[in-house]
Amino acid sequence: MTSAPQLLTDPFLQLPTETSVRVVWFTEFAGSRHTVAYGQGLSRSAIATTTKLSRTREDQQSRVGNQTEDAQVYKKPTMRDIWRHEAKVTGLTPGKRIPYRVISVREDGQSVSSNQFTLAPKPTSQTPLKILLTSDHQLMPMTAANLQKVGQTIGQVDAVFLAGDLVNIPDRASEWFDDNRGGAFFPCLQGRAHYQLENNGVKTTYKGASLIQYAPLFTAIGNHEVMGRFSMDSGLNNQFSDPFPRAAAEAIYEKNAKQLNPTNDPKFLEAWLKNNSFNTDTYNEILTLPQSNPYGKNYYAVTFGDIRLVVLYITNIWRTPTLDADARGRYREREKDLNNPTAWGYGQHIFEPIKKGSPQYNWLEAELNSSEFKQAKYKIVMFHHPPHTLGDNIVPAYTDPVQLIERDAKGNIKAVRYEYPKADDYIIRDVVPLLEASGVQLIFYGHSHLWNRFVSPRGMHFLESSNVGNTYGAYIGDKKRPVPTGYQSEYAATDDPNGLKPMMPTLAPLMGEDNQPLPYVASNDITVFSILDTGTGTVSSYRFDTLKPESEVVKFDEFKLTPAIESRKASKNAVALVAAEIV
Ligand SMILES: [Fe+2]
Repeated sequence: MTSAPQLLTDPFLQLPTETSVRVVWFTEFAGSRHTVAYGQGLSRSAIATTTKLSRTREDQQSRVGNQTEDAQVYKKPTMRDIWRHEAKVTGLTPGKRIPYRVISVREDGQSVSSNQFTLAPKPTSQTPLKILLTSDHQLMPMTAANLQKVGQTIGQVDAVFLAGDLVNIPDRASEWFDDNRGGAFFPCLQGRAHYQLENNGVKTTYKGASLIQYAPLFTAIGNHEVMGRFSMDSGLNNQFSDPFPRAAAEAIYEKNAKQLNPTNDPKFLEAWLKNNSFNTDTYNEILTLPQSNPYGKNYYAVTFGDIRLVVLYITNIWRTPTLDADARGRYREREKDLNNPTAWGYGQHIFEPIKKGSPQYNWLEAELNSSEFKQAKYKIVMFHHPPHTLGDNIVPAYTDPVQLIERDAKGNIKAVRYEYPKADDYIIRDVVPLLEASGVQLIFYGHSHLWNRFVSPRGMHFLESSNVGNTYGAYIGDKKRPVPTGYQSEYAATDDPNGLKPMMPTLAPLMGEDNQPLPYVASNDITVFSILDTGTGTVSSYRFDTLKPESEVVKFDEFKLTPAIESRKASKNAVALVAAEIV
């Protein structure tokens, strides 16, 4: 007897317009019919389009089904068949929520329905909204607890802005859907997680919260959304760590084009380059994000109520800072690979250019000059890599690695090193001045897994609220980042390398060991979330101590976004100033 069909996820909301919204969900069967029933009495129906995810797999390190240790079930990467259903629900009225549920019918005629939720189209301007600012979920220990506390403290939010790093290995299906430790991406954001934390023998199970069934999700790409060179042999963690610069892949192709692609088939070339460099296919196939530029949906802008949200693709591969001989690191190649450039890592190379003059930069400039941007009350920019932080991942500078090859007298390679000149940090040199000149009030980012915030001299706010599931520490005082010695460029071991002092939380900072207030939260026990309230124009941050499961959530910081009118006035002058500087 076949068991009853099941949905792999609850439905979630994507791409709202003034009169419509997309409903998306997943199953492990292709099925014969997938619909959304909506409206009063669920009497209306929208038919879904079904696609199959092309790269989702499980492997030795998956924790799914009966596999609780490496390679118990999966000995190598194995395709996992997952179908995605998306229906456009139309004819909606702004401000009016209506009920919906989804129904999937399997090939044998048996069907399964989700619970009932509510949906709404895009809010109009002047609608007060509560937006969750979050990032770096990655199935980390506190993520389910964090989102559960969002639900319990705030209730339904109006949207989720997620600054990248949704999962760890994007092609591992179970990280999105059903990791058996209970903390996969969709379960945490849909209140279906079952992640257990234990402290002093007391076990608490967290479910996350039903957030994205009701509210659209807008995401930025983090380094953990990018898969490296494709293989059905090496493990998925290896493939994740093995992105190859597109230009280096192109050079290999050029050398071998005749053998690789004798008929010069452009489709083969495209696929070969993708499989031999990096891709964001699984992320792109799972999410339906606004498409507001000719280059796809990895960067975009959207108006949501009073907010103009600009999302950029600013992330590079993370590589180890160690200088050990066997490190394919951010500062050097592995000794044994010196004569084998196809095995090189090429340092922390950038996935999508953002430097001045690049297509993304040019698109950003045009966006900042658009009437949608200029008219928005709140101008917010989100990307993954930090412009200012006390965290680890801001070093080295965000720039193309400068490769230095040292040779002996005979011309043999003795070392391959990488430098990252601080003056060429594209975020600080090119992006931040442009955003500031355009009146952006808030830059929201993640990546270093801590909470801290900064304010520029001209009043632009920087927030990293990535102490969600865990921390990678704050580097201040005696705590030093692992930076290389004997290198030419400057690599800051402590503080914000880009010169801003962290703001002290305004309401209830944590206390350090010396009983002095701390300007950050970097904790594996205390989890943090932030809420933007467009009614009051404030961003509030809350902390919850998972060591005390019965304790209250504490609002510990709040700041107000600078009124847009002042920003607009300031920006006119600033644009002139920047233009003069560029010349
Ligand atoms: Fe990251």
